[in-house]
Amino acid sequence: MAEEKKYERSIELLNKALAGENTASLQYMLFHVICEDKGYRPLAKYFKKTAIEEMRHSEMLAERILFLGGEIKMVLAKGIKNMKTVQEMLDYARQLEKDTIEDYNAWGKEASANGDGGTRKMFQELLVQEEGHMDQYRLEMENMEQFGDEYLALQVLDNLKHAE
Ligand SMILES: [Fe+2]
Ligand SMILES: [Fe+2]
Repeated sequence: MAEEKKYERSIELLNKALAGENTASLQYMLFHVICEDKGYRPLAKYFKKTAIEEMRHSEMLAERILFLGGEIKMVLAKGIKNMKTVQEMLDYARQLEKDTIEDYNAWGKEASANGDGGTRKMFQELLVQEEGHMDQYRLEMENMEQFGDEYLALQVLDNLKHAE
């Protein structure tokens, strides 16, 4: 089998993943700015950190597409959503991570079945990081549900602490 043909499906999957990472990166950067504006400092910082991590994932995926002789499609998987409440943002972020983890598990297996262990390894490395993101969003959601307005008040108090 010609090399280009062999990696055709992997390149397709890597481009789908790239579009998803681009979306996550911009979505979290937007959440960062909204939370920062509301004075929710710890959460704002976490959204920025994950946005940057997703951007690094985009870089890794794009590099591998070129390595396999493919063409990079630098697009978004879907539109970026504007949200007002922390609950909406956390819920959406958690769902994004959950979907990504499912996709990467499936796509990694598919790449491996096509004889592309390198792409599988990349999906596995990425999905471990996405699991970390999902876990953090889940924890924030739980705190939010448990403490309600107090959770938000603590976010703002942390902001004041750093303003000294
Ligand atoms: Fe990612
Ligand atoms: Fe993530």
